[in-house]
Amino acid sequence: MIILKSRREIDRMRIASNIVAKVLAGLRLLVCPGVTTYELEQYASAETLKHNAKSAFRGYHNYPSSLCCSPNNQVVHGLPNKVPLNSGDILSLDFGVVYDGFFGDAAVTIPVGTVSAAASRLITVTEESLYAAISMATIGNRLGDISSAVQCYVESRGFSVVRDFVGHGIGRSLHEDPQIPNYGVPGKGVKLKAGMVLAIEPMINEKSHDVKILSDNWTVVTSDGGLSAHFEHTVVITESGPEILTWLK
Ligand code: MF3
Ligand code: CO
Repeated sequence: MIILKSRREIDRMRIASNIVAKVLAGLRLLVCPGVTTYELEQYASAETLKHNAKSAFRGYHNYPSSLCCSPNNQVVHGLPNKVPLNSGDILSLDFGVVYDGFFGDAAVTIPVGTVSAAASRLITVTEESLYAAISMATIGNRLGDISSAVQCYVESRGFSVVRDFVGHGIGRSLHEDPQIPNYGVPGKGVKLKAGMVLAIEPMINEKSHDVKILSDNWTVVTSDGGLSAHFEHTVVITESGPEILTWLK
C-alpha cells in the first residue's frame, strides 16, 4: 500500500532530507586520497548527532554503520573500513536519517583524486539517469515511466542497470511501497499521485548487471569486477512537478 503524505508531513520530510543533503555535501569535501571510509563514517555519525537526528541505516537488519561506503566494484551496502582511498577510486556513499518521525535517504558517487575517463563517464551517466527519472515523477505518469527513463538513458550509453536492488517509497519507514526498479516499461505500473514520496536510486554497472553478495552478508559487488555507481534522491510528487527533498539547501 502506497502511503500519500500530507503537506505538513512533507514539511517534516523536507527537514530530514535536508540533513541528509548537508551531511553528504560535507562528506564530499572529505573524500580524497588517503582518507578512510571509517573516517567518513565517524563524520557522518557525529553530524547525525549534531542535527539531533538518528541514523536510518544503523541497526536496520543489524546493519552496523550509519553510512554505506561502496568503492569501485562495490555496488551498494559496503561497510566502512580503515583502508585508505587511492587516487583513481570512485566511491559511492549512501546515507539516511530519521528526524521527527520521518526518513530521508540519498546517495552520491564521488571520484577520488583523478579518475579514468571510463569511471568519470559512468558517474556522469548514472547521475544524469537519476535526473531523467526524476523528470518523469509527475502526476498522471506511471511508475514504469520512471523505471524506463533510467534504463533507456543508461543502456543507450553502453552501461547496465542492476536488477537485484531497487528504489522505494519512503516516509515513516525507510522502505515503503512501491518498489522502484531501474528498468521497466513506459506507461506500465501504478499511477503517480501528489503526495507520493519516492527514493529513486539508479545503481549502474560498467559491464554486466550481474551482482553478488560478499561473505560479510552486506557488501554487494559486481560479478565481473567492473565498476559500479549509485545516485539517489528522496523526491515528492507535487501539483507543480517533482520536488527533490534531498537537494542541498
Ligand atoms: N539507500 C539504501 C536503501 O534504501 C540504503 C540501505 S542500507 C541499510 O536500501 F543498511 F540500511 F540496509
Ligand atoms: Co534508498
